[in-house]
Amino acid sequence: MSLAFRKLQPEFVAEVGAIDLRCVHDRATLDEIRAGMDEFSVLVFRDQPFADQEQLAFAQRFDGTLHSHTGAAVLGKNRFGNEALTDISNLDESGAILKSEDRRRMYALGNRLWHTDASFQDPPGRYSMLSARVVPSVAADTEFAAMRAAYDALNPETKATIEGLRAHHSIAYSRETLGFEFSQDEEDKLRGAIHPLVHTNPRTRRKSLYLASHASRIIDWPIPEGRLLLRDLIEHATQPQFVYRHQWRVGDLVIWDNRATMHRGRPFDDGKHRRELRRVTTLDVEPAQVA
Ligand SMILES: [Fe+2]
Repeated sequence: MSLAFRKLQPEFVAEVGAIDLRCVHDRATLDEIRAGMDEFSVLVFRDQPFADQEQLAFAQRFDGTLHSHTGAAVLGKNRFGNEALTDISNLDESGAILKSEDRRRMYALGNRLWHTDASFQDPPGRYSMLSARVVPSVAADTEFAAMRAAYDALNPETKATIEGLRAHHSIAYSRETLGFEFSQDEEDKLRGAIHPLVHTNPRTRRKSLYLASHASRIIDWPIPEGRLLLRDLIEHATQPQFVYRHQWRVGDLVIWDNRATMHRGRPFDDGKHRRELRRVTTLDVEPAQVA
């Protein structure tokens, strides 16, 4: 089938016309979605009534290997019994809203920092697929930043400075910037990973900035100098012309390319309103050729 893409922001993001992803098994359509990801970095699919297993199965047949060594897994067991299905909610295992001082809530508040999923791993995250199950009546949006457009807009001197640099990414670092404390044992499990600061997509050859809050330092640079560079680049990349704000509807599935975007959750009264989404992220390895 031929998919219709409607652009939602001048630099990136498209809404895809009617399709039921639960029923998409043919390689040609999956390849069309991948081509859409190459072009837009973020795709919005409306009315996708995924059950958990269907969401996991779609992610696997679309892009292969699932990310399951999440930062949250270090803190405690996942309430779905499957670490590949990340709980993006403000609920506990009984479905009640987490208390404001609950450690899981404190940890989840880190998602309000600009970040890239699983950049603290090697291989890192590639596509994240977030399914909206329960959405508050108040705004509880997610923002995305266009990191290819942000790279393209850098001046030539900055591009020359950052070419070839590498950054260390650590989820322990990004949480600690908010005052979250890990035990020694937890920190030992969250050592982080090193990735190039400029990512080149092997399919499109387009370059993007690859950084965000997990980026703790620039390798071989003095730590303060590296952190200042990272802050400057994040500030640059989050100017309004590079940002799209997604207002969730129940049934939305949003897929984003972590190599070409940053994202963050926006605040809402999470002590009052239930918000329940499920995320599956694939790893940036060779795509599995599953029919
Ligand atoms: Fe995220």
